[in-house]
Amino acid sequence: MPEALSLRLATSADLPFVMATERLPGYEHLTAQWSLEEHQWALAQAHTRYLLALSPSRGEVGFVILQPVADQHEGTKLKRMCVSTPGQGVGGQFLSAVIHWVFDRLPTDRLWLDVFSHNERARRAYRRAGFSEDGTLRAAYRCSDGSIADRILMSVLRSERCV
Ligand SMILES: CC(C)(COP(=O)(O)OP(=O)(O)OC[C@H]1O[C@@H](n2cnc3c(N)ncnc32)[C@H](O)[C@@H]1OP(=O)(O)O)[C@@H](O)C(=O)NCCC(=O)NCCS
Repeated sequence: MPEALSLRLATSADLPFVMATERLPGYEHLTAQWSLEEHQWALAQAHTRYLLALSPSRGEVGFVILQPVADQHEGTKLKRMCVSTPGQGVGGQFLSAVIHWVFDRLPTDRLWLDVFSHNERARRAYRRAGFSEDGTLRAAYRCSDGSIADRILMSVLRSERCV
């Protein structure tokens, strides 16, 4: 039986954890990484929330950045998500909690994201959590190795959330 995760809003004191997690080996091909100054700026924005996943036995096990929150047209974007131990079910549990948090606390009817087409693990986790694939932004990201990646748009609507 997996431990129940809880969520809390991050503060600047949590940025070392956030930065270490987004820099885990292999993540550079899957997600962007910001400097401390970029994170500090983002954290201070009214349209941004950082949420941490907390395990009762292990403490912080992941983070998400929501940015922007509750845009009147597009809804809330899940800008970044990383967990400390991928492929062990943490992300799926975290995503369910984030979906509930977003629709319980924000005046928004849509939670969306984009994910590299080559990030099959993340796409599976998002699909299992209830996200649908809405389309593809073809050749829409220049990777650090010079290659160009497709980005898959995904979303879940308030009306689709699981109770
Ligand atoms: C994306 C991420 C948050 C998902 O969290 P997670 O804890 O790994 O997800 P889960 O373990 O709950 O689910 C992973 C799913 O992918 C599958 N999977 C696990 N390892 C895999 C791999 N190497 N390749 C493909 N699928 C894989 C699992 O079987 C599971 O699918 P299922 O539920 O259909 O069985 C996490 O992998 C992560 O932090 N990745 C690095 C950063 C990143 O990619 N962020 C997302 C950017 S949009």
